[in-house]
Amino acid sequence: MRPRAWDEGISTGISTVDAEHRLQVTLVNALEQVLRQGTDRALADRTVAQLVDFSTVHFHSEELMMRLYAYPQLDAHALEHGRLLDQVAEIRRRVEAATFADALAQIDALRVWLTTHVRTMDHGFALWCARHGIRPDPEGGPQGRI
Ligand SMILES: [Fe+2]
Ligand SMILES: [Fe+2]
Repeated sequence: MRPRAWDEGISTGISTVDAEHRLQVTLVNALEQVLRQGTDRALADRTVAQLVDFSTVHFHSEELMMRLYAYPQLDAHALEHGRLLDQVAEIRRRVEAATFADALAQIDALRVWLTTHVRTMDHGFALWCARHGIRPDPEGGPQGRI
């Protein structure tokens, strides 16, 4: 069975970003569980709404950080965030239409997209910060070291 827990291997080393990724993965897993049970429509609606809202906030937070440091790949990164949000919105439409099986079928694809994004594009930002001596973590603690 595929591991459900957060995989430390996809940590970017920026503690605020990693904390948000953990919550994002937790919400994806919670939604999958609710859809598998398939009985609580209101809970499914609330969980998918939380995933949409939190993903929007997380992507804005990353993009603001990238703008702050004049990250040259910001536009490409934001474009990819838009694609991920489209996919989450599609899952929400399926949940709201009560086609839970269809929504479930897309959860795995979403998880792969999200983890691939973290491993490649989010990691790319973290490496760029390290190369330029930038430490985005406000507290600069050990978790903040890249
Ligand atoms: Fe991210
Ligand atoms: Fe990102």
